[in-house]
Amino acid sequence: MIILGIETSCDETAAAVVKDGTKILSNVVASSVELHQKTGGIIPEIAAREQLKCIIPIIKEALENAQIKSQKIDVIAVTNGPGLIGSLLVGVETAKSLSYLWKKPIIPINHLQAHLYANWLEDKKPQFPAIGLVVSGGHTDLVFIKEHNNLKWLGGTRDDAAGECFDKTARVLGLGYPGGPAIAAKAEKMSRLKAQGSIKLPRPMINDKNYDFSFSGLKTAVINKVRQKKSKKQFNNLIIQQLAFEIQEAITDVLVKKTVRAAQKYQAKSILLAGGVAANSRLREKAQKAIRNSQDKLFIPSPKLCTDNASYVAANAYFNPQFIPWQKIKTEPGLRIC
Ligand code: KG4
Ligand code: ZN
Repeated sequence: MIILGIETSCDETAAAVVKDGTKILSNVVASSVELHQKTGGIIPEIAAREQLKCIIPIIKEALENAQIKSQKIDVIAVTNGPGLIGSLLVGVETAKSLSYLWKKPIIPINHLQAHLYANWLEDKKPQFPAIGLVVSGGHTDLVFIKEHNNLKWLGGTRDDAAGECFDKTARVLGLGYPGGPAIAAKAEKMSRLKAQGSIKLPRPMINDKNYDFSFSGLKTAVINKVRQKKSKKQFNNLIIQQLAFEIQEAITDVLVKKTVRAAQKYQAKSILLAGGVAANSRLREKAQKAIRNSQDKLFIPSPKLCTDNASYVAANAYFNPQFIPWQKIKTEPGLRIC
């Protein structure tokens, strides 16, 4: 089965052609991130305008790269939520038009669940039951996956998402957008020995026996630390590196501890990480260390499949084929994972 995936939930415009839910034939992503760097965050109106300009060329390119004509597409899969309303509309309305024009069935896809399906695009395939951690710019969710299309939400962030915390604290440190890669790059410059103990930040809710997260207190702690250092005229590159290091440590400690605890409680055969923050090397390293006795249980997509793209949208559709007449498909900006 050949599926055309379309993803426009945030600032990316993406299209991919995937065979049998596991083999990527093409995967094209355009991002308006450079425009948002000027403002230090996404301006939804600008993202949607850019998406409107490039959605058709991106779909054309995806078909060309896969060397597939539209007649050979079996299904169109499109992200219909959660996400920015203007951005989602571009992808959903384009998919509906193509569905009508090409006479192809259409499957609406939940963006968060879709992130997890990046793990089916790698060689090693996950087994059920699984625990999934979705960590993106807008969401931090832990889910129990009994089988395809049978997800139970265990917990999530009560305030800022993990990616949001990276993005916002990076802005406070003057590191630009997106904050995750910027903080990771600064933290990398800091040798662990030099950084350890220099600045200590909280690990919110790390020992709470639930599966919820909270990152806004961590963000506030960083803001306070920066204010304090600035008032003492001590805010310099070393402090920025130390803070970046400790922010990354704090976020990844909490994510790994709670995910591993959920995996033990639910006797998961696989642990799946997904979403933009799963591209973080330190998170990947810590997750591997935490379950070093059963390494084969851990699944983390390659970094380029962690961040937003349409290949996992198509994979999700293949494993959860819920067709809906195009006339009935709506954009659902606030849709939760399950
Ligand atoms: O999944 P994604 O591409 O888009 C959303 O659905 O939100 O995730 C974007 C988020 C941003 O917050 C970005 O800072 C973060 O993922 N991110 C990272 C890394 N790469 C992207 N965070 C930490 N380390 C990274 N290497
Ligand atoms: Zn995403």
